[in-house]
Amino acid sequence: MVSGMTQSHPRISKAVIPAAGLGTRFLPATKATPKEMLPVVDKPAIQYVVEEAAAAGLDDVLMITGRNKRPLEDHFDRNYELESALQKKGDAGRLAKVQESSDLATMHYVRQGDPKGLGHAVLCAAPHVGHEPFAVLLGDDLIDPRDQLLKRMVDVQEQRGGSVVALMEVTPEQIHLYGCAAVEPTEDGDVVRVTGLVEKPDPADAPSNYAIIGRYVMDPHVFDILRETEPGRGGEIQLTDALQQLADDEKVGGPVHGVVFTGRRYDTGDRGDYLRAIVRLACEREDLGPDFRAWLRSYVTEEM
Ligand code: G1P
Repeated sequence: MVSGMTQSHPRISKAVIPAAGLGTRFLPATKATPKEMLPVVDKPAIQYVVEEAAAAGLDDVLMITGRNKRPLEDHFDRNYELESALQKKGDAGRLAKVQESSDLATMHYVRQGDPKGLGHAVLCAAPHVGHEPFAVLLGDDLIDPRDQLLKRMVDVQEQRGGSVVALMEVTPEQIHLYGCAAVEPTEDGDVVRVTGLVEKPDPADAPSNYAIIGRYVMDPHVFDILRETEPGRGGEIQLTDALQQLADDEKVGGPVHGVVFTGRRYDTGDRGDYLRAIVRLACEREDLGPDFRAWLRSYVTEEM
């Protein structure tokens, strides 16, 4: 039993991970391999995200997939052939690495079918989630496991009800890449009340520098709203637009709060950021870091 659990307030246990995107920014690597399977050092990007969900106590994970995403299911399943080969060799270290991903959480999969946007992907989770609050984790954002963002969001949702988004301050030049939140302070230093949301605004129209980074804890009323949400920015059904409605209506799924994150976030969504994420994480690894940092130092001195 998790402490703090009461009958009327079950602990949040379900995480939804949209993973149906085509990954066109990484072609040709993503022609036959899902972008979620691209390695960040030596682990597929998506494994970091499932590990984060599991570490926050969300051990029921639903992935929203699409065509060509079978490797995701295989990765989180057992691989008996490989396991028995490693067992025969007595390679316990690698065996543990193979088994890690299938032991993390109970995995479920549903296909999105038509790619109608993030809001539509989340709506595909409705039959699985039912009437409980749930988390949404976007695979392009990796949060350093030392900085416990999701756990804090779950706690805030349990204290305050409604829905919770993760926010991070970005520069005015970057805000057009994100959903942006208008906010008011609360008595908790890291928590703000979200009063308005706009998806990928022009810098001139942005209500703040607070960007939504890809973590949400949602009230299940969001499904009713998403069913009625018209396509928005880019002709897609936007999760941000549905959240705006939750923020407007305290009685139906609101209020919306934001947890302001100041920790380490790695973006794997575009090629430059992906390379930076790998270098930063490789530098910090105990096994690879010392050699890699020494090489990087001399490379930078000699080549730049
Ligand atoms: C999505 C959301 C956006 C959010 C972002 C975080 O956009 O629509 O509101 O700020 O994720 O990474 P995407 O980056 O998928 O276009």
